[in-house]
Amino acid sequence: KFPGVPLLSQLPELPSLEGADPLRNPIDAFRLAIAHQLAGILNLDLQKVYDGVQVHTKGADFIATLPRFRLPGKPMEWAEKVEKEFKPDAYIETAKAQKGGFVWFTAVTNTLSQLTLSTINALSRGEYAGSKEGGSYGTNVSGVGKDLIVEFSSPNIAKPFHAGHLRSTIIGAFLANLYEANGWYVERWNYLGDWGKQFGLLAVAWGMYGDEAALKEDAVKHLYDIYVRINREAEEHPEYHDQARAFFKKMEDDDPAALALWQKFRDLSIAKYKDTYARLNVHFDVYSGESQVTKQSISEALTHIKTSDYIEKADNGAYLIDLNQYKLDKTVIERQDGTPLYITRDIGEAKQRWDTWNQKRGKGFDKMIYVIATQQNLHLAQFFKVLELMGYDWAQPEQQRLLHINFGLVKGMSTRKGTAVFLDHILDEAGENMHNVMKSNEDKYKLVAEPEKTADVLGMTAVKIQDMTGKRINDYNFDWNRMLSFEGDTGPYLQYNHTRLCSVERKVQETDGLVLSDPLDPSTLRLDLLSEPKARDLVMLLAQWPEVVRRALDDLQPSTIVQYCFKLCHSISSAWEVLLVKGQERDLALARLFAYRCARDVLSAAMRLLTLQPLQRM
Ligand code: ARG
Repeated sequence: KFPGVPLLSQLPELPSLEGADPLRNPIDAFRLAIAHQLAGILNLDLQKVYDGVQVHTKGADFIATLPRFRLPGKPMEWAEKVEKEFKPDAYIETAKAQKGGFVWFTAVTNTLSQLTLSTINALSRGEYAGSKEGGSYGTNVSGVGKDLIVEFSSPNIAKPFHAGHLRSTIIGAFLANLYEANGWYVERWNYLGDWGKQFGLLAVAWGMYGDEAALKEDAVKHLYDIYVRINREAEEHPEYHDQARAFFKKMEDDDPAALALWQKFRDLSIAKYKDTYARLNVHFDVYSGESQVTKQSISEALTHIKTSDYIEKADNGAYLIDLNQYKLDKTVIERQDGTPLYITRDIGEAKQRWDTWNQKRGKGFDKMIYVIATQQNLHLAQFFKVLELMGYDWAQPEQQRLLHINFGLVKGMSTRKGTAVFLDHILDEAGENMHNVMKSNEDKYKLVAEPEKTADVLGMTAVKIQDMTGKRINDYNFDWNRMLSFEGDTGPYLQYNHTRLCSVERKVQETDGLVLSDPLDPSTLRLDLLSEPKARDLVMLLAQWPEVVRRALDDLQPSTIVQYCFKLCHSISSAWEVLLVKGQERDLALARLFAYRCARDVLSAAMRLLTLQPLQRM
């Protein structure tokens, strides 16, 4: 039964089944209705039949694939039996046998519209199916009780925040949202490059050309500037490197003055990163980093490895592990001077995270994702392999807890004037370009409450959509003209569609005095009037949103969601000409207005899942 949706409580009751959630997912309701009858006709287990019923795109709404049930005899004969014995009900009106043993099903349009639009409406703003918050249409509870750490962005202090960090930020923030939408408890971690000899050199640079005001103004830029400068000058002055080593030694020995300076660099850098992340609508729960791996974690890891049978000591005294039998080369885990490496810290940190998670949450994490460019594939594979060899249960591949999510390169990311080192300059340029476009339409521009903020959001949308349109593994060219265009499948095009959906309600209120009541009870609307194919196609697409969210977990591709957004926008664009609201008979106009509102709710949810901020006006 469908609580809170009066008309729908008259629908025949559906069987309950693990993994099917008809209260949140309209497609599940239809699949259940079909499976229920099929199970009877074929004398099969409901769950088995349910898994064989899917949404179909051409010729029918749903398809049952009978061959997968391995019934005796010819699948086609079974399909014909289904066609004959299937009784049309409130959910499904026809069942048709297809060559090869498939059956096509057509949903009852009125039920499809009512169920879908009422669910969207209730979950987007009301209290329904246990959800107290608005905006939850599309989410599910499959991951409830499971914990995820997603580590992403992870720039290096005093070094450029490059395209790889930007991609990691965009993809990682999306993955965090995606798991949350699937019911997981998620923590967002940033693992900064904030420790090492370079901090010694930075301290030397600071002593010579540090500028307190410049540091406060923009720590990321100032530290980078003095770091570049000292590296250049150290070519003539090798003694700078000795001083740097001495300073870093002090840091390692917990010298308070040395640590205080380092802490100041770190804090101010994080403050600056946070501004940039805020522009990108990204936040972190934890700012971790190489500095946060304790000496104890590192020494425990090293002792553990050194007493194993897979360790080797090189002639120069360094320790390494030969991973050639796994085609993973060799990896050094302790330098000849006894210092740990990047991989050593990663090993210590992973174990440290596992232990603290156990203390904090009473169990380990169910998954930990590292969002890092493909250039580090070997590093990640070695790092995971070493943890596995160390014998940790949670690091055994069959547990699938550790996951490296990689991505290709961005080529030619620079401002139009030249090569940029700072991400902020790229983002500024995107925002400024959008601002210019907005200003060119004076009438509209006057109505935008915060034009600069809006332009910035548009620019960020452009950058992100360009990044998430292709499969993660592909490289792409950073293309200003294409990304900022309002035509074609771009970020600005998505925002344009969203603002148009927002404005239709404003406009018909002005012209026709038409308003959807608030709170809105969909059973008072004549949704049966949504009978045109365009309306039906749109509703069917809206009904599939929860499925898209669920399936996106299979391949973890942002492009799955991006493609859905574009499909939805294409469907909406082509609906405008046919499904007019203005000047229509009242019941029809209200039904269509409601359909557009639901389309807006879903487009907004999809955009937010992608970390975008849907705009009301632009
Ligand atoms: N700071 C590193 C870099 O910029 C990325 C860190 C990735 N995370 C990790 N656990 N290794 O290359």
